[in-house]
Amino acid sequence: MNHPFSAYRKLFPILDNAVQLSSCSQSALSLPVRQAIDDYLDAWVRRGADWGYWMEQVDLARAEFARMIHADVDDIAMLGSVSDAASSIASALRFEADRRGIVTTTLDFPSICHVWLAQQPRGAQVRFVQAEAGDTGTTNRIVDTIDAQTALVSVSHACFYDGQIVDIDATGRASRERGAIQFVDAYQSAGSIAIDVREQAVDILASGAQKYLLGIPGIAFLYVRPDLARRLTPTVTGWFGRVNPFEFNPANLDFAAGATRFNTGTPPMMCASVARASMSLLNEIGIPAIEAYLTRLSAVAIEEAARLGLSIASPTAPSAKGANTAIRIPNAAQVEAQMLQAGYVVSARNDVIRVAPHFYNTADDVVGALRELARLTR
Ligand SMILES: Cc1ncc(COP(=O)(O)O)c(C=O)c1O
Repeated sequence: MNHPFSAYRKLFPILDNAVQLSSCSQSALSLPVRQAIDDYLDAWVRRGADWGYWMEQVDLARAEFARMIHADVDDIAMLGSVSDAASSIASALRFEADRRGIVTTTLDFPSICHVWLAQQPRGAQVRFVQAEAGDTGTTNRIVDTIDAQTALVSVSHACFYDGQIVDIDATGRASRERGAIQFVDAYQSAGSIAIDVREQAVDILASGAQKYLLGIPGIAFLYVRPDLARRLTPTVTGWFGRVNPFEFNPANLDFAAGATRFNTGTPPMMCASVARASMSLLNEIGIPAIEAYLTRLSAVAIEEAARLGLSIASPTAPSAKGANTAIRIPNAAQVEAQMLQAGYVVSARNDVIRVAPHFYNTADDVVGALRELARLTR
């Protein structure tokens, strides 16, 4: 299988020594990202405290994320984690009268579910749709569960465990029909699956930068549909949620017109520099081309895993999954360490090893990792 992005491999130094297939957890460090960190440190050494440069990096990162999901830069807030983004949204919801329901699934990322469960003392009633590994019926079950009492529908676009994809347009349309808001956790899809908030029924969407966005933790982007942002007033806030954060008026609690009303304190400036650089690379290549290539790698992974007799936890139709192919391995954490010794960076979660390539990986990388997994677990 040809590799359309082979010219980019030289930007990722680790690929000279190891096969990094852990984008569901941490992608490989690229030279532009390293340069962004160096630039941040240089600015600090040379200019001391350069707020102009910091805010420029923050706005450029918001713009790159906006470009990736086809939103406007004003529709993007910046927080410290996806959990923080969910909390900021939750703080703006009321859970009153006959609108108390939150619908999510048993395969959503625990941290986000915990934020919703933490709203129970405020009146929220959380309903978990049962989702199984390898399941392709999750979307329909979510749609069937949304009712006139649902306030919020929270879905993982691609699942952290088995990579299964939820049809966020279908769940978003069902949410809107029944008067609910959809929150999309795109941490396992942004950077590897095309997202278009103008075409898909997305109300709110959040992602961090550490996984397929090729960055580091400590930052999350939050898209809020502009008309919805105007209607929601967070009770978790900070000076960067103001109309003008630099007004410094303790008595003036005004809220920015767009999504930035969901900002809290000082933005993560160094992480923003990193995310600006990494997303600029991804946007230059184009997410649709990356997605098409990763779907081909999924087909290779599924075929090879089946041939080796490995137990596949992910959906076996490549179009039903993200880049991650999860293989059931009882002692997954131990096998992850053994894989590292053999030169393969993969990621364990409970009883699975996740083989999660990005555009810089080849089909040989994926096949080699699966063969090593089969050898270690034979
Ligand atoms: C799908 C998904 N959502 C959320 C998170 C956690 O995000 P954060 O730590 O930024 O809150 C993860 C982390 O692995 C994830 O995979």
